[in-house]
Amino acid sequence: MSAKPPQDRARQSVAAAAVAAELLPGQSPALLQELHLLTRSGELNADARRKLNQINHLYGMLRPKLEPLLANHGDPLLLDAGAGNGYLGFVLYDLLLRPAGRGRLVGVESRPDLVERVNQRAALLGFSRLQALQGQLAEWADADVAGIDGQKPQAVLALHACDTATDDALVLGIRAESQVIAVVPCCQAELARLLGGGSAVRSALGPLWRHPFHRREFGAHLTNVVRSLVLEAHGYSVAVTELTGWEHSMKNELILAHKVQRSNGLALQQLRGLLAELPVGEMGLLRRLAATLAPAAAPAP
Ligand SMILES: C[S@@+](CC[C@H](N)C(=O)[O-])C[C@H]1O[C@@H](n2cnc3c(N)ncnc32)[C@H](O)[C@@H]1O
Repeated sequence: MSAKPPQDRARQSVAAAAVAAELLPGQSPALLQELHLLTRSGELNADARRKLNQINHLYGMLRPKLEPLLANHGDPLLLDAGAGNGYLGFVLYDLLLRPAGRGRLVGVESRPDLVERVNQRAALLGFSRLQALQGQLAEWADADVAGIDGQKPQAVLALHACDTATDDALVLGIRAESQVIAVVPCCQAELARLLGGGSAVRSALGPLWRHPFHRREFGAHLTNVVRSLVLEAHGYSVAVTELTGWEHSMKNELILAHKVQRSNGLALQQLRGLLAELPVGEMGLLRRLAATLAPAAAPAP
């Protein structure tokens, strides 16, 4: 019989006896059971397996960037934007902050029921430096001092924060001058909307987004290109990679940035050139960061 293709294997659950091979060194099965990623009998069902795979891959990519934060800051603040059930935060706390005995993890989440659950679990597990706060990310991004109660996060992370919530996370991290910003974007509709309205007919590049299906795909791609350039223009070094195999998630692009300089004029110029060709200057991310991108990224008249 032929071996199953990878996407089928990834969709299978894993028996308790084989679960250890799916975990990271030092990863606590008891924590994963508390998070309901492992069943009571220690099995990993197919959905939980996909989620754990995403989280563990992201942890592996973040770790080399986050360890220096722990080394260089007495008590760094890590922000999980659009935290949901807080899986990423719990894993980061378990593997990084708990052993270090330092650092704080704050999840920001709009749904009160999820916030309450995260805080209950943190209390139960004794994760005293992990908490969730309820509200819209934009509240913290647009505050006088972007951050949590005036404390700027050293890292802003957003795994599948919906549509423009990813941009709220970027605005927050850029304004707070966070050392590390990492986003794995989710669904994206804003640029597809901006590309509509007959603009395809007026532009030589229009065939790229004339059909609604292409508009959605091109809009999503362009969104992440603009996000990467905006980060670079603000002095971040940016790597764009696949998070994990497509068999685990279709929303799989990781934009991983760390601050290396105050700003980058070349990236700003490239952003300006792109915006001159495409009718997306009204993108919220660009409008909200207009002061720090000015005058180059201002929408064309
Ligand atoms: C797809 S879930 C991802 C959750 C989690 N990061 C994960 O990967 O398991 C996106 C979460 O972001 C939250 N969210 C969406 N927009 C938000 C906003 N503007 N401010 C705060 N949370 C938001 C949603 O309520 C939801 O729980």
